[in-house]
Amino acid sequence: MRCFKLIKKYKKQIFFATLMLVLLCVVSYFIYHNFSTSTISCTLNREYENYKTQIVVHFNKDNTLSIEETFETGDNAILKTKRIEATLLEYDYSVLKNKIIVKHNQTYSKDEKEMVKEYVESGYSCTNEETVDKNIEYNLSNYSTYQEVGTPYEEVEINAFSDDKDLREKVLIDNNNFDPEVAGIYVVTYRMSLSDVRDEYLYRVIHVEDTTPPTLKLKGQEEITLKKGDKYTEEGVDVSDNYDKEIKNKVETEGEVDTSKLGEYEIVYEVTDSAGNTSTVSRKVKVTSKGGIIPEIKTENGITYVNGTLIANKQYSLPENYAPGLRDDVYNAFKTLQQDAKKQKYSIEILSGYRSYSYQEKLYNDYVKKYGKEKADTFSAQPGHSEHQSGLALDVGKLDESYGNTNEGKWLAANAYKYGFIIRYPKGKENITGYAYEPWHIRYLGKELAQKVYKSGLTLEEYFGIEE
Ligand code: DAL
Ligand code: ZN
Repeated sequence: MRCFKLIKKYKKQIFFATLMLVLLCVVSYFIYHNFSTSTISCTLNREYENYKTQIVVHFNKDNTLSIEETFETGDNAILKTKRIEATLLEYDYSVLKNKIIVKHNQTYSKDEKEMVKEYVESGYSCTNEETVDKNIEYNLSNYSTYQEVGTPYEEVEINAFSDDKDLREKVLIDNNNFDPEVAGIYVVTYRMSLSDVRDEYLYRVIHVEDTTPPTLKLKGQEEITLKKGDKYTEEGVDVSDNYDKEIKNKVETEGEVDTSKLGEYEIVYEVTDSAGNTSTVSRKVKVTSKGGIIPEIKTENGITYVNGTLIANKQYSLPENYAPGLRDDVYNAFKTLQQDAKKQKYSIEILSGYRSYSYQEKLYNDYVKKYGKEKADTFSAQPGHSEHQSGLALDVGKLDESYGNTNEGKWLAANAYKYGFIIRYPKGKENITGYAYEPWHIRYLGKELAQKVYKSGLTLEEYFGIEE
């Protein structure tokens, strides 16, 4: 009763106290959940000459710690991301304004052992802003180096000083994954321990590159001259590369030589190694006529000239109105021949000299009537196609095949070139000239060309390479 009375007496106070107690519980609960167990994260951004690092440390509600480290090069390519999860069995951290010092001796999974060790050994400091100790000098002379594959590792200059203490000896360089024999991008880590809670890292990117193009060398000569119909074997190339072992299979060839067609050919070899370095070599092959000539055929006023020499044959004709008569130089050259022949007791006379288009037409038509077209075509030129119309040809001696076997015919064949003439339709070359053997038909070419053609043993068509 008494108790009841007391309660009654202090009713207001009890009610107030209970209310305060409840309020206290609510506030405690609120504080506990919002402060004691919330995640604390901090981010440390660092920017160097050509890369950035970001380290984020999370203190999680479930009493774990995670550290995430991203390493970026200048072009924003993420080269390396480390993520470390650890259980905070034993840790100590203090919040000093905006700086968190973590000493974590926490356990970690076996796989993560190596990665976490770096942090565990040294502790970790993290702030929301970059903090730079005034008295620390820590840098490299070069953060991004390039080297040719196959050359050994070379260190750059390291500056590591703290309060004028030389710490260069203490910088731990991790270049264990560096292989100078394999092209690629490598990151070398430089770790300087400043205290038991703080490490400073620098990173250097080494580009191991193959910039050396393959060695590509022609076997045989760079320029080759062949005569029409010669056999040609392309000798190929020798190839090697400083790095690419498969280089032999990568050579590409373009172009081929057809020795049945005159002209200049180019064989191009190209090879690109695995790093994209290219080498090219080429060979020039000239296919000339059997006389060693690449013919240049020009037509002027309907007259065909090959390298400046007028040509009238089965293929090339003269215009109907072309009527030069027998040229003086041709007549004079023959006169000298005739005089020299006389000294050998040979009397060589002109049987037929210049023939006009219409005269050749009459001759040819008469032969066709007498022997038929097929036969006539083997010994008579059709109008416009006769060399006699050019004023450069003469029939001399005797119009008989046997003339070639006479001493006079033999002398003519052996000496005509000295006066600028050739036997135009030789024996055995009927399928080239298109005409039967004519030991009496001489063609004026001038002394220089006549000598060349005579010495070559070729017909004019073969010499120039204009045989059909
Ligand atoms: N006898 C030669 C081929 C001519 O008619 O010109
Ligand atoms: Zn003739």
